[in-house]
Amino acid sequence: MLENLDFISESELTDWVNSHLESAAKELSAGYQGKTLLYSENGHKLVIKAPLGNLLTRPINLFLLRHEYRIYQILSGMQAVPVCYGMANEEYLVLEFIEGHTIRQNRPDSSSSFYVELFEAVEEMHHRQVAHFDLKRAENLMVTEDNKPKIIDFGVSINKKSGFHWLNQYLFKLAKQFDYNAWARHKYAKDMQSMSEEDRAYYKKTALEIASKKIKRFYKDRILRLFK
Ligand SMILES: Nc1ncnc2c1ncn2[C@@H]1O[C@H](COP(=O)(O)OP(=O)(O)OP(=O)(O)O)[C@@H](O)[C@H]1O
Ligand SMILES: [Mg+2]
Repeated sequence: MLENLDFISESELTDWVNSHLESAAKELSAGYQGKTLLYSENGHKLVIKAPLGNLLTRPINLFLLRHEYRIYQILSGMQAVPVCYGMANEEYLVLEFIEGHTIRQNRPDSSSSFYVELFEAVEEMHHRQVAHFDLKRAENLMVTEDNKPKIIDFGVSINKKSGFHWLNQYLFKLAKQFDYNAWARHKYAKDMQSMSEEDRAYYKKTALEIASKKIKRFYKDRILRLFK
């Protein structure tokens, strides 16, 4: 169901997606899991995320997209998160198009108010019991034309459940630390030596991050050398 969209009906938008899914013309990005399309007609712009895959993998990707939709509902109203209009035909996630660029393309200076606002957004997100988990990836953080943060891609985000769910609560805690670490890495452009005393309190590399770095280094040093 779609909400708060007055310039196109749900069935028209679904038809538009179905007719553009195969071509690369409207593509913002495409991977194994799904495709992100840019709808741009009559001065209106939308971003649409569609699941891809075969008989076996498409249902999983659709499940992840519905998970992302649920996260957008929880974060509804946050300045640093795009508006979500819902799921068209229960399969396509429809989002506000953010004018700007990703932080990979152009990174604000460490002293910019961008990082203060990003920090506040991360705290608000955690307060709403959501941890992003993949904020380190520079494609998942946008910078608007007026230098404000917009967090996108909640596909692997964790929503903390109430009651006793030890795995969910462990992952939530881990993902929260990942979010703070990602914030610090973006702010200092990975030059963690230059981090302020105050910010150091938030930056804690988790055992998982250290292990994955070691595995990557081992892979690069040892395995790739075999093929040189
Ligand atoms: N609301 C948006 N406004 C503007 N651009 C967006 C928006 N959402 C996504 N994009 C662009 O599309 C890209 C892919 O979106 P997203 O990260 O949500 O998809 P994904 O699940 O990572 O898919 P993929 O693996 O194909 O990148 C982003 O990196 C960004 O450049
Ligand atoms: Mg992404």
